[in-house]
Amino acid sequence: MPIIAFVKECVAGEKRCAVLPANVKAYALMGAEVLVESGIGAHIHIDDEAYIEAGAKVLAERAELLAKADIVATLHKLAQQDLSALSSSTLVISHLDPFNDKATLETLKQSGLTAISMEMIPRISRCQKMDSLSSQASLAGYVMVSKAMNALPRVLPMMMTPSGTLKPARVFVIGAGVAGLQAIATAKRLGANVIAFDTRSVVAEQVQSLGAKFLDIDLGETGQTDQGYAQELTAEQMQIQQAAQAKCIAESDIVITTAQLFGRKPPVLIKADVVASMKPGSVIVDMAAENGGNVEGSVAGQTVSVNGVTIIGTGAWANEVPLDASQMYANNVQNLLSDMWDKEAQTLKIDIEDEIQSSAIITHQGELINKTIKALYEKEAQV
Ligand code: NAI
Repeated sequence: MPIIAFVKECVAGEKRCAVLPANVKAYALMGAEVLVESGIGAHIHIDDEAYIEAGAKVLAERAELLAKADIVATLHKLAQQDLSALSSSTLVISHLDPFNDKATLETLKQSGLTAISMEMIPRISRCQKMDSLSSQASLAGYVMVSKAMNALPRVLPMMMTPSGTLKPARVFVIGAGVAGLQAIATAKRLGANVIAFDTRSVVAEQVQSLGAKFLDIDLGETGQTDQGYAQELTAEQMQIQQAAQAKCIAESDIVITTAQLFGRKPPVLIKADVVASMKPGSVIVDMAAENGGNVEGSVAGQTVSVNGVTIIGTGAWANEVPLDASQMYANNVQNLLSDMWDKEAQTLKIDIEDEIQSSAIITHQGELINKTIKALYEKEAQV
């Protein structure tokens, strides 16, 4: 019987985990045995007994648990010490940051492990239920609004009271992908006046269907990749965007930036002079602060004040709602494994020709096999 193991995350402050008791039951039905490290659900108020009741075995010895595993799934990559405890036939599943963390890929390659990077699951309909970038980004959109709301010295909805009328707060969301759309929906539900912009004009309709306004900026040809990701703007297009959104930013109480470019550094959307034009007391949330930032002056992992404007760059947004984030991530992993499962033989079937696996598997049997990542590192080596 294949053994699927889940261990506690090693990143400081991480509260999420990759399995809930409901998933344990589903794995048992697939014909797998589940091992979990003792205390795995402590941060989300799920005790070891709940996992045991669902059919898992709980072990306190991490290395012993890893040594028995055929599959290990986590949110963040395993530590070097953990990898050394695994047999080379193990499948490891986690976020791997493959565009940036070459050292980890090298270690995985040398250890002979089969490694799946959750970021590389294709953006196709069949994969929506496995898509952890979307599940965590959606929660991030919600969390960013709640953080901004708490930092703002005023309320979001219009209030007509005997003591006076309060105007609705103005919220500007830049980037209307998964996180941006959830931020728009959340701010709208709270009664704010919401405006949004994205370089992919195809999202204008989605923004409007949430009751928000779409800021029209003519950037000429922008396009999107076949996976639905934005293309990088030219320097000239970027200037047009920055100038056209400056007034909207200056008039906003809250600005939330969610613009990303898959596999590349996020674009700088708001320069320091535009931050300076905002009213003191306004709030910016920079979703990308930890990866370089959309906003000049944002600091990774921190909330700072610049001329009275609060800039929130704390990151790890989905970790603020760890129970829901764990449930969604654990389901993403379960759906992926279920897709990779040979239902008759009741075991994992690695097939590097499969559409999903060929996109998500990075290393296999001592080789870096992912075409996109391989091409990137070969290109870098030539420079
Ligand atoms: P993302 O996290 O890479 O980017 C966030 C947003 O920033 C995107 O909407 C992008 O267009 C925007 N952006 C980039 N540069 C910008 C700039 N200079 N100014 C303003 N906005 C900028 O993308 P995300 O949110 O992960 O997904 C983007 C799209 O991919 C979705 O809206 C959807 O169309 C598609 N998608 C498809 C899925 C599927 O079919 N399974 C699953 C998830 C997403």
